[in-house]
Amino acid sequence: MTAISKCLFPAAGYGTRFLPATKAMPKEMLPIVTKPLIQYGVEEAMDAGITGMAIVTGRGKRAIEDHFDISYELEHQIAGSDQESLLDGTRHIRDKCRFSYTRQAEMKGLGHAILMGQSLIGNNPFAVILADDYCVTEGPGVLAQMIRLYDQYRCTIVAIEEVPMEEISRYGVIEGEEAEEGIFRVSNMVEKPSPDSASSNLAIIGRYILTPDIFQILENTAPGKSGEIQLTDALLTQAHAGNVIGYKFDGRRFDCGSIDGFIEATNHTYKSRNYE
Ligand code: UTP
Repeated sequence: MTAISKCLFPAAGYGTRFLPATKAMPKEMLPIVTKPLIQYGVEEAMDAGITGMAIVTGRGKRAIEDHFDISYELEHQIAGSDQESLLDGTRHIRDKCRFSYTRQAEMKGLGHAILMGQSLIGNNPFAVILADDYCVTEGPGVLAQMIRLYDQYRCTIVAIEEVPMEEISRYGVIEGEEAEEGIFRVSNMVEKPSPDSASSNLAIIGRYILTPDIFQILENTAPGKSGEIQLTDALLTQAHAGNVIGYKFDGRRFDCGSIDGFIEATNHTYKSRNYE
């Protein structure tokens, strides 16, 4: 039995790339066809056997809480009609999962957002999903694949993907020994390297299994690039102790934090009817 029962969703970022759409609406509520990004994330966590959803929100993010709550007026209005089944997905989530929320008052970076989630997570290993990285798979979801690996290695696992070198400066990048096919023992990590300084094209994407010592490390992590507390800096401390695995997952990721990725995800999902 795995020890991972909670998934943290850092969802406090401004989403400036989608302004003005994200002025009053969270980026995580942008829909891929009919479902908001964060719902796909929650479904991926459920597919991995997780029922505790811990969401780090910020100002202007109330729509996320409302989405996973009951809407009495709507339920009443739609009851008995042929549209009622459209609410089955969110009802199922509500029945199976427990949601908890906290706010990140100042946007001091992903590392800081994760630190804010400590009160919701406690002292246990946990999963992290960045909902703007939307992943599709043929078989088990990406998080389910990573939990299987966690059960074997019992250390932090980061999902990685090969990206074109000209895009590498958008990502945290790993360096390491390939222990098994697609499984790397990470020895070094660099946040947003320039293409000529990057030591590999293996980029970290928005899926993690983190061991709880990450909280103490984050507390002692000074702000890095652009004054933000970088998760990559804290992960590097774990990596130096030999405690980080990079995993090339099976599946496809869409960077829905970018306009191109969002449109690709929408087209793919519409064609494959993945939103039903
Ligand atoms: P991004 O780097 O995509 O930033 O954050 P962003 O603010 O969401 O989007 P842009 O770049 O302004 O368009 C990666 C993830 O980390 C979360 C975001 O919500 C997103 O899921 N995040 C980032 C926080 O929760 N808090 C922060 O302070 C920063």
